[in-house]
Amino acid sequence: MKIAPSILSADFAALADDIARVEAGGADQLHVDVMDGRFVPNITIGPVVVEAIRKRTRLPLDVHLMIVEPERYLADFVSAGADMVTVHVEACPHLQRALAQIRELGAKAGAALNPATHPEAIQYVLDDLDLVLVMSVNPGFGGQKFIPSAYPKIRHVRTLLGGRPVEVSVDGGVKVEHARPLAEHGATILVSGSAIFGAPDPAAVVKEMRSAAAASACS
Ligand code: DX5
Ligand code: ZN
Repeated sequence: MKIAPSILSADFAALADDIARVEAGGADQLHVDVMDGRFVPNITIGPVVVEAIRKRTRLPLDVHLMIVEPERYLADFVSAGADMVTVHVEACPHLQRALAQIRELGAKAGAALNPATHPEAIQYVLDDLDLVLVMSVNPGFGGQKFIPSAYPKIRHVRTLLGGRPVEVSVDGGVKVEHARPLAEHGATILVSGSAIFGAPDPAAVVKEMRSAAAASACS
């Protein structure tokens, strides 16, 4: 299981320090939430901040685009240092083209599904995917409550993927207590913001999450 702290809940005025904390705690990648005030109600950051983060960490950057017309910005985010770029299927009428474009730019391509979106939305792009991001909250804000319909959806996505080596990531309201059931349902990346950065010791939560998820492998 990979742990991806979401910097949305970090201290943006001391971002490098917060990133160093989770990196020291063994985080596998950093999740970067990009919001445009149109696809979702909130506004966050753009390529300039991704570029600044890139200079401060060796961790892979997993950039989650919650924006309309994401195709317009793919090249900017990859040149800023994104290793993985995820677009929302709901924002992408030409999803296959967007995913192929991300790979052509040299990054890994992800598709995100809102809680109400059927997993079959990715059925005809399975070979274009490196990552499926199952949203367990309606995107837009950190600190929301985990929606349990994500569990059967993760299993459904796994079935659709067959044996393909595609990551299945879950994002929204993820806490230590969810790590084990999420691993058992087929998730391979846990994105977590407030549970990690809202804790007094973010590095400790990264470690707890990883061992809670690993407990499922032995049972
Ligand atoms: C929500 C974002 C998430 C968010 C997760 O729209 O996509 O990545 O940062 O934060 P928590 O873990 O607090 O729900
Ligand atoms: Zn996210």
